[in-house]
Amino acid sequence: MQINETMNAAFNDQITLELQAAHNYLAMGAWLESAGFSGMAVWMHAQSAEETAHALKFYQFVLDRDGRVVLGALDAPGSAFDSVVAVFEHGLAQERGVSAAINSLYALAMEEKDFASLPLLDWFVTEQIEEEASFSQILDDLKLAGDGAQAMLFLDRELGSRGSAE
Ligand code: FEO
Repeated sequence: MQINETMNAAFNDQITLELQAAHNYLAMGAWLESAGFSGMAVWMHAQSAEETAHALKFYQFVLDRDGRVVLGALDAPGSAFDSVVAVFEHGLAQERGVSAAINSLYALAMEEKDFASLPLLDWFVTEQIEEEASFSQILDDLKLAGDGAQAMLFLDRELGSRGSAE
């Protein structure tokens, strides 16, 4: 079922947004690594790879429906953060932005009666609940750890296991 131009353009914007998220998480990973949190950097690299996978899900969907993939330009991500908490707060804000974009896509698909997009968008609605919950949980843990070096070391090790757990 061929995708219409309105939905095609909206999906192209979403592909760019997911790639921007991947780009931003890579920059956050670099900052974390430089600041000595190599476990958190591993977690952030895995997050970046997940965003690239999200972009590719939309990319393949557009192509499967005889659409045209047109990639937009990416902005340079920030490279300086005040703290580890600031990094993850940035991440949570980004995820909330992505959730809002998915909701808008869903509303557009309903408006356009593009029901073929709904199973994919349903998957992303559920995924965004998980994405926001992960960042919120890490922020809660970071706040509990406070200035405690031992707690931070433990958290860094725990987040560093993400790559091997997935
Ligand atoms: Fe693809 Fe984390 O939103």
